[in-house]
Amino acid sequence: MEITPGAHHFPGCLPVDRQIALVAQCRALVDGAIPAYVPVVRGGGQMHVRMLCLGRHWNGKTYQYEPTRTDFDGLPVPPLPAEFRSLAHDIAASAGMALEADLCILNYYDAEGRMGMHQDKDESARSLAAGVPVVSVSLGDTARFLFGGTRRRDPVQTLRLESGDAFVFGGPARLRYHGVSRIVPGTAPPALELVGRFNLTFRQYDVT
Ligand code: SIN
Ligand code: MN
Repeated sequence: MEITPGAHHFPGCLPVDRQIALVAQCRALVDGAIPAYVPVVRGGGQMHVRMLCLGRHWNGKTYQYEPTRTDFDGLPVPPLPAEFRSLAHDIAASAGMALEADLCILNYYDAEGRMGMHQDKDESARSLAAGVPVVSVSLGDTARFLFGGTRRRDPVQTLRLESGDAFVFGGPARLRYHGVSRIVPGTAPPALELVGRFNLTFRQYDVT
């Protein structure tokens, strides 16, 4: 369903068995050898998510991408799994858009998790100018997702992103403000045995 030009919500995009497999992969990644962590951003505040970047590391101090986590532990960013890349490609295609993701930001939200309104604008100027989309996949507890305009003061729509939903914003919607005001605890499908929410946002830093 098109929310606004370039922004598409696909409720129930992923069947439960696919969600179970993705949750297992997310759990293994966030608690793996190169684990997720709570970023401290430019102003010195902690984010309200646990974050793990794949493919390219987003540095919360510089708002730039880099190959190693110089704002945290200096470890190399883990690779983007091939099946993540193809999942993002297929979801973008169903919105009529092309995406060859080279990075993913995997966030875990507990019951207190949230994310302030922001634009995703740290990818390359060419990628942003081309409107290459961000593909977001939600797993676990429902999120109250806020989707605004390209200016901070623009009106904001509220959407519920449920487990298995995909949300795509590209083209004229690529630089719209968005955020997560809250998580609705206990709403994850029981089969996932997940407390909280994983969100994966796939992006393409570079265009060739
Ligand atoms: C983000 O904006 O990076 C995350 C959005 C979400 O968790 O749905
Ligand atoms: Mn974002």
